[in-house]
Amino acid sequence: MRADDAGLPRLSTRDSRDLFAVPADVLAVGLAAPARGERDPQPRAGVADVTAHYGVDLPAVCSQESFTGAAGQVLGLPVAALHGGVQAARAADATPATVSTPPTDTTPATDAPAATGSTGTGGRPSRLLLVGLGDESAVAFRRVGAALGRASRGVTSLATPVVADVGPSCVRAFAEGLLLASYSPPRHGVTEGPKPPVQQVELLGCEDDDALRNARTAALATWRVRDLASTPSSTKGPAWVADQAMRLATGVPGVSIEVLDVEALRDQGFGGLLGVGAGSATPPCLVRVQWRPTSRVRGAASSHSTGSHVVLVGTGITFDTGGLSIKPREAMVPMKTDMAGAGVVLATVLAAADRQLPHPVTALLPLAENAFGASSYRPGDVLTVYGGTTVEIVNTDAEGRLVLADALAYADARLDPDVLVDVATLTGAASLGLGRRHAALYTADGDLAAGLEAAAERTGERVWRMPLVEDYRPALDSDVADLCHVTDRAVSAGSITAALFLREFVGDRRWAHLDIAGPARADSDEHEVTKGATGYGARLLLDWLTQLSG
Ligand code: BES
Ligand code: MN
Repeated sequence: MRADDAGLPRLSTRDSRDLFAVPADVLAVGLAAPARGERDPQPRAGVADVTAHYGVDLPAVCSQESFTGAAGQVLGLPVAALHGGVQAARAADATPATVSTPPTDTTPATDAPAATGSTGTGGRPSRLLLVGLGDESAVAFRRVGAALGRASRGVTSLATPVVADVGPSCVRAFAEGLLLASYSPPRHGVTEGPKPPVQQVELLGCEDDDALRNARTAALATWRVRDLASTPSSTKGPAWVADQAMRLATGVPGVSIEVLDVEALRDQGFGGLLGVGAGSATPPCLVRVQWRPTSRVRGAASSHSTGSHVVLVGTGITFDTGGLSIKPREAMVPMKTDMAGAGVVLATVLAAADRQLPHPVTALLPLAENAFGASSYRPGDVLTVYGGTTVEIVNTDAEGRLVLADALAYADARLDPDVLVDVATLTGAASLGLGRRHAALYTADGDLAAGLEAAAERTGERVWRMPLVEDYRPALDSDVADLCHVTDRAVSAGSITAALFLREFVGDRRWAHLDIAGPARADSDEHEVTKGATGYGARLLLDWLTQLSG
């Protein structure tokens, strides 16, 4: 897992709006979607300069190339042959003008045209990109950033004035989109991969360095989750994830880490983790990472923490075969990503430290492999989870809630949280209901729901609040134990009943549960979302923590 932000493009601000003040391989200028009642996209900063400099009739080019200004649409023009318009450009240059339409929620993503050429001669750009700014909202600017990130792969530098006249939330959204879309998962062996991301991005006429810093922390957190969740389970067992956490947390001021190994879990009665992990050659463990802000009193650091103590719990199933209730072949394929929740809480607590947030934050990572083997736990077994609650096992594929039960009960009993939030790739049912772009949010606490919904709105990591339906609770009653961990067929609401099960372990704490089984993975690139592990949840939680008061 990446220890620092090496590999992320560097973004810098420049007072000057002069497109040609800094040498760059690629220049990008933006056009907004047509105003109401109009047909042509609306030119924004730099478009007039490009028109004058290259003598190109951009309105004609837009209409000829069906460039509408939709957010994230990119039209690439080779500069060498721009004089005289696109027809001449095509005749004189082997690289045609290329247009890519931004993906929508219903159409699969298409790759934006890759910028060609590496370095412009004499510091002059070799390529010009027109990018659609849509309605110029933060959502649109996130897409613009993502589109430029994809279109500028393979070159060294990009300069653009697209965020010259916009507010901090749009600058930040643009930078996050660019950084997030620049990700590609680590490759193994020598197979050819995507071109490396652009190294340097100059934001002309933009002075918002704070927005860039915040975007970078958030994007790095997401890259870290993606790296962890993309790692094959042949490498990634519970101990490996714990080692990554140790490597990242060690030496960070204000951050401490502790790993409870399998003996400690036995001594302290973590029956959920032990049961789920029993069938694996790699034993389970529980990682605790703490961020404790130090308030500076007259220059002296004191360890006194201010603000609410937030405990984040993330499920860390390093591979989910389903156990003896084994999964069908296809359903098992993506299950290396079933530790995404643990990745999210780890990356979030480290980002909280990086941002020096005033709240103490603790991340708990219950880590286990749900393997199929002679020592696997069985349907009909009864496990005693942390704190003594007994649970009848019905389906060994519902393992996530068992490791969460241990961690939530431990948090309630030992960590005195003011707020408890868990993040888990918990149920296929959540993604059946909401699809792949929304997490299911459960909480009885209206303020907590509002805070997380607002963070979802700001980050684009969307949530949908679901009901904790009391009528379904009796379906978790067991004849032989305190609880059953899944319901019989009479109540089918799989995501809701999982949330009701978790609620049994949080005492009277303020608590929210995020079922991220849908958004944790994507089948294709779409705007800031990348194919495979998406890292969903880190930006959401970091933003929520940043806005948390009290
Ligand atoms: N890790 C899965 C949930 C999941 C499914 C995540 C699909 C991502 C994509 C979880 O452990 C699981 O297997 N849940 C079962 C619950 C059932 C056995 C009650 C499910 O959703 O099928
Ligand atoms: Mn499972």
